[in-house]
Amino acid sequence: MTTINPHGGNLINLYKPDAEVAGIRNEIELDKTALSDLELIGTGAYSPLQGFLNENDYESVVHDLKLENGLPWSIPITLPVNSGVADDLTIGEKVKLTNNGLVYGTIQVESIYSPDKKVEARHVYLTEDEAHPGVKKVYERPDVYIGGAIELLRRSDKGQFNKYHFDPSETREYFQKQGWKTVVGFQTRNPVHRAHEYIQKTALETVDGLFLNPLVGETKSDDIPAEIRMESYEVLLEKYYPADRVHLGVFPAAMRYAGPREAIFHAIVRKNFGCTHFIVGRDHAGVGDYYGTYDAQKIFNRFTKEELGITPLFFEHSFYCEKCGSMASAKTCPHGKEHHVILSGTKVRALLRNGEQPPETFSRPEVVEVLIRGMSENTVKA
Ligand code: ADX
Repeated sequence: MTTINPHGGNLINLYKPDAEVAGIRNEIELDKTALSDLELIGTGAYSPLQGFLNENDYESVVHDLKLENGLPWSIPITLPVNSGVADDLTIGEKVKLTNNGLVYGTIQVESIYSPDKKVEARHVYLTEDEAHPGVKKVYERPDVYIGGAIELLRRSDKGQFNKYHFDPSETREYFQKQGWKTVVGFQTRNPVHRAHEYIQKTALETVDGLFLNPLVGETKSDDIPAEIRMESYEVLLEKYYPADRVHLGVFPAAMRYAGPREAIFHAIVRKNFGCTHFIVGRDHAGVGDYYGTYDAQKIFNRFTKEELGITPLFFEHSFYCEKCGSMASAKTCPHGKEHHVILSGTKVRALLRNGEQPPETFSRPEVVEVLIRGMSENTVKA
């Protein structure tokens, strides 16, 4: 049995723990996002990328959602540095990539360029508003981008999620060993509620395996911390999911909140992890009111099935309907809104912070227990 091809055909592996750095003069200090991107490039999660985007690829991704070679790519993976640092660099030079005194990799400088960040924001995030957390981050990061091929020399400290960290080569091997021909990937940055469970299990009815892949990289401060989210998954999996059909692994990337563009990016990366299908529900990777409820589904029309390779599975906004006595969506439920249990994330966080339980029809009691405990130990803003 073969697994789905990685994006571009080959799984990139740039992990070179023994590479020599002794003679390298310059270094670039990585922020958290760049550090996670370096590792995801090096392990092939971002295949076919072999480095941070050079200027041509960057322009092509920002304007056309494609790399220069024509392959779909929707989020610019960039390495921003201050102009003072950039001034010391020369094209062709190899530079150390460091964080907190440790060398994590190298970059062969291919391109040094000053992006127009407003254009990047407008095209990628569909807004120039700095209140948007993804745009804010783009504006806050330094102003000169360095492009070029990387080598990954050191793996980051996996901390408490160690047992849930898998490289794409490992998940591919696991899916193969399980005999799964079709695997659906699920991205999330939130605790798992009944709607998530419903769409995951509905998808699982038609494929062999489910890859639950919560994002645990940088998120905005009012999102529920990753350790609480992971615990909510653990209790749920133990009680309500068939162990031999589900694989839980973390996605250590930063959240961009880029809605439609990020949905494409999330799908491509899950293809690299070996998924054949990918769930896109309502307002995928969205934030506030920046994107329409189904914009992250509509954007898939811009690509052919062959171009993307992975099959998106679209889901309507789902909820518990008191009249149906089950989970449902506008596609399957004839009843009025007054019978639907729909709570916003802000509302749920407010309930939890006061130690109040959201209804069982919204979230399983076992999950609520984890969340209330977690919220009392952490300060999570509304
Ligand atoms: S995301 O930013 O990672 O997309 P979240 O964790 O809330 O946020 O969502 C994970 C996935 O579940 C996304 O594909 C999202 O569209 C989908 N989703 C979340 N809630 C619902 C819902 N009530 N109905 C349908 N899909 C949903």
